[in-house]
Amino acid sequence: MNIPNSQVSLLDTEWGATEFGARALRSLLGNYPTGVAIVATRTADGRNVGLTINSFASLSLEPPLVLWSLVNHSPNLAVFRDCEYFTISILGCDHQELALHFANPRVENKFQDISVQETPEGIPSIGGAIATLVCANHQQTYLGDHLLMIGQVKRIASIEGRPLVFHGGAFTALHNVQ
Ligand SMILES: Cc1cc2nc3c(=O)[nH]c(=O)nc-3n(C[C@H](O)[C@H](O)[C@H](O)COP(=O)(O)O)c2cc1C
Repeated sequence: MNIPNSQVSLLDTEWGATEFGARALRSLLGNYPTGVAIVATRTADGRNVGLTINSFASLSLEPPLVLWSLVNHSPNLAVFRDCEYFTISILGCDHQELALHFANPRVENKFQDISVQETPEGIPSIGGAIATLVCANHQQTYLGDHLLMIGQVKRIASIEGRPLVFHGGAFTALHNVQ
């Protein structure tokens, strides 16, 4: 595909910025659209915990591994680091409110009045998610300001639906390319 001259950016002459702050990097990374998911688990004393993530990615098919990362000042860092299983619920395009709800640290019990399904492993997943993965907590590594979580996929389920998309710091949805 030809790139018009007007789109050959300053990067071509200056080879980009070598000094940049976290905000600039975050803003640049916003050019890469992602899906949106809720990761959830249950504490040893039976409390459901979960949060909205867009760091979810596939890692390996054989064995089946996925990854996501948790900011290292999360109040639930130890819960996820030490859990046996977690679920990843991939949200549909009509789940924006749910995504905001699970991204709000001021909500005390995020699972109250939410459609929750319990997996056979005894952990919560989000009802109505377009895809759900139940993962065994396979490996955890502190990297930079996040805890990298790697899950071994044990169980999968999905329904028809279009995904919620996060792009440029905002929620959006897919549209068909002509
Ligand atoms: C679209 C979106 C994606 C997010 N992705 C992540 C993520 O990948 N990892 C993370 O630690 N926080 C992520 N967050 C922020 C958490 O959802 C937010 O900090 C939440 O309050 C954490 O819940 P807690 O305070 O109950 O732990 C994301 C937020 C939004 C809106």
